[in-house]
Amino acid sequence: MTAAMMSYQVDHDGIATLIWNDSEAPVNSMSQQAVESLANIVDEVISDDSVKGVILTSGKTDFVVGANLKEILTMKSGDWQQDAEQLSAFIQRIHGVMRKMETAGKPFVAALNGTALGGGLELALACHHRIAANQAKARFGFPEVNLGLLPGAGGTQRLPRMLGIEKALPWLMQATQVGPAQAQAAGIIDEVVEPEQLLPAARQWLLDNPQALQPWDVGLNNKRSKFRMPGGEVQSAKVAQTFMGAEAMLRKKTYGNYAAPQAILEAVYEGCQVPFDQGLAIETRGFVRLLLSDQAKALIRTFFTGLQQVNKLKHRPVNIEKRQFTKIGILGAGMMGAGIAYSASLGGLGVVLLDTDQNQAEQGKAYSEKLLKKRLARGKTSQEKVDAQLARILPTTDFNDLAGCDLVIEAVFEDRHIKAEVTAKAEAVLGSDALMASNTSTLPITSLADACQRPEQFIGLHFFSPVDKMPLVEIIVGEKTSQQSVAWALDFVQQLRKTPIVVNDSRGFYTSRVFKTYVLEGMALLSEGVAPALIENAGKMAGMPVGPLALSDEVSMELMDRIARQTQADLGDAYTPHPGDEVVDFMVHHADRIGKKAGRGFYDYPAGEDKALWPGLSEAFVPAATQPEVEQVMQRLLYAQAVEALHCVSEGVISQPHEVDIGSIYGWGFAPHTGGILSFVETIEGFDAFIARADALVQNYGDRFRVPHLVRELAETGGSFYAS
Ligand code: NAI
Repeated sequence: MTAAMMSYQVDHDGIATLIWNDSEAPVNSMSQQAVESLANIVDEVISDDSVKGVILTSGKTDFVVGANLKEILTMKSGDWQQDAEQLSAFIQRIHGVMRKMETAGKPFVAALNGTALGGGLELALACHHRIAANQAKARFGFPEVNLGLLPGAGGTQRLPRMLGIEKALPWLMQATQVGPAQAQAAGIIDEVVEPEQLLPAARQWLLDNPQALQPWDVGLNNKRSKFRMPGGEVQSAKVAQTFMGAEAMLRKKTYGNYAAPQAILEAVYEGCQVPFDQGLAIETRGFVRLLLSDQAKALIRTFFTGLQQVNKLKHRPVNIEKRQFTKIGILGAGMMGAGIAYSASLGGLGVVLLDTDQNQAEQGKAYSEKLLKKRLARGKTSQEKVDAQLARILPTTDFNDLAGCDLVIEAVFEDRHIKAEVTAKAEAVLGSDALMASNTSTLPITSLADACQRPEQFIGLHFFSPVDKMPLVEIIVGEKTSQQSVAWALDFVQQLRKTPIVVNDSRGFYTSRVFKTYVLEGMALLSEGVAPALIENAGKMAGMPVGPLALSDEVSMELMDRIARQTQADLGDAYTPHPGDEVVDFMVHHADRIGKKAGRGFYDYPAGEDKALWPGLSEAFVPAATQPEVEQVMQRLLYAQAVEALHCVSEGVISQPHEVDIGSIYGWGFAPHTGGILSFVETIEGFDAFIARADALVQNYGDRFRVPHLVRELAETGGSFYAS
């Protein structure tokens, strides 16, 4: 096994080239097996008298991509003490190998042939020198914090001792990933050379530095280390201020919702005041605590396991050949049409962008021009690429130009008659295997498909605004939509490098339906006399990106009013009024304050100034004498959404739990620190506590908090949404 994973060869100068090449995986990662191999081979090179120095490099395209999270997850049994011990032992094994490399008296140089992230970069930090090949695609950084973890292979101790605390903290806390040049400029990498020079340069460095020692190990055995933290010790006035600033910024940005950045601060603060090896022990304790936390469990499940599965189309219908799209049509060159045209042309697709008049179609194309100009100015693209992308967009008014399109996406006004008309016209010029889609945000896909000769090839592709920034696409399956169309729609979204979730046709689909409950709950609170500032702050403190009232202003209450009226008309007696409805009605029809686009809603939007809550609100909705605790308001805002999402799952509107979680975060920004809306229910709150709290809310505020039976069943049987 060891031989297959790692090997080394020694040249006539005594330089060993140690190559890590995991033959059983596409990339090198810090698996248990890899760490054992590394430990063994490091022992070997150190005791091999013919070896004077060691080049550590990889046989893969990338160097080492980080920890093997999949494996780490399998190391958890659920018994906290046992897991903590096992994980600590594993981490200590890693530290042991790295410390041997650093202190055995032979110089190690990391020859970074490609990406080194997380544990991979930490391994490079444990070498005495780092040289990277000048590869445009190579990335360097510490992504752990995004998964609720800290860099646990010595990163929180080595990086501050290399760069100084002030410079190291952002790299550890913000998960920034950069290319070779930026990593060198930051001091994370020492040299960048052309790929063919990588090994010669590494070899030369070893020949020039036969006695390398890490700065923190100089004088280590004399008991009185001479090492001084670059940029100042923890207790110095300047660094103390850095910690205070970082702490304050973190609070302001995350309201204390994330454990990992806090733990990173602590590991650096405590670990950098003690000798290096004690620092590593402090880091390990912090790492294990995080890894065994519910938050890391949820974040890893959603952003590592889940996102990978979703982006790889794990649940794509089987036995349907993959479709490669080359040319698509877009009907309606408004805000959404123009955005979709940009994303599709960026993905290399030809786009026919159709509107009622040529000028409007050209305007739609101009949107891409505007975005590309910005990218060009930032050095993110070349003029050649910009020209090529723009040449792929054809603005037109002529339906005949749609001939030969693999897919046509309708994005005209939200009016079923106009939609029916343009859909039929487009279908008439398309080939028989073309897919037809609508970007509608509210109209049932099944009914829109009626306008088609081939309703089985009609599907919903719900993009989010602004399309160029939002990664999610909600694919809506109508009653007659075929599995082949679902598979093709998934292929298309993947081609655009966006993240698809698949939902069944129903009112508001999944994202709009649940999102709505957040803003309406905010309004219900307002109508009960809860102070608007308390509502808004509670929303943000709960982890939502914007308070519910500000969000209503963004969406426009006019639109909410229209949708509510349409729903009432469609459902008749079956419509369940929401206490927030009356607030919408008041704001639109009595106060004439429809939201941000009118410059007046729950907030005033004075030109050139920050928005401010409308002073008239306290007259319209008189604040109650006793105000609830902020935690109660936070709970209501999150529970209202969670219960609705649970209904979506129990009604079969959406079925894949990872998609429910990812859709909630990417779709409307549901508190990302929870790992998504199902993770919130199952992992953060726990079924029993969630049900008990929701039941209490039913008592006080009514049936909209009633948890569906499915969840009670899971709670009773010890089941899980993520079981399959
Ligand atoms: P918009 O009003 O900006 O654009 C609609 C475009 O369709 C206009 O350029 C209009 O000239 C064109 N159009 C109207 N009738 C036409 C016809 N017969 N033939 C060709 N073009 C025609 O609207 P927006 O915001 O882009 O919305 C479009 C669709 O996307 C709607 O169904 C909307 O519900 C949906 N949507 C909107 C989102 C948003 O945030 N605005 C988000 C997701 C979906």
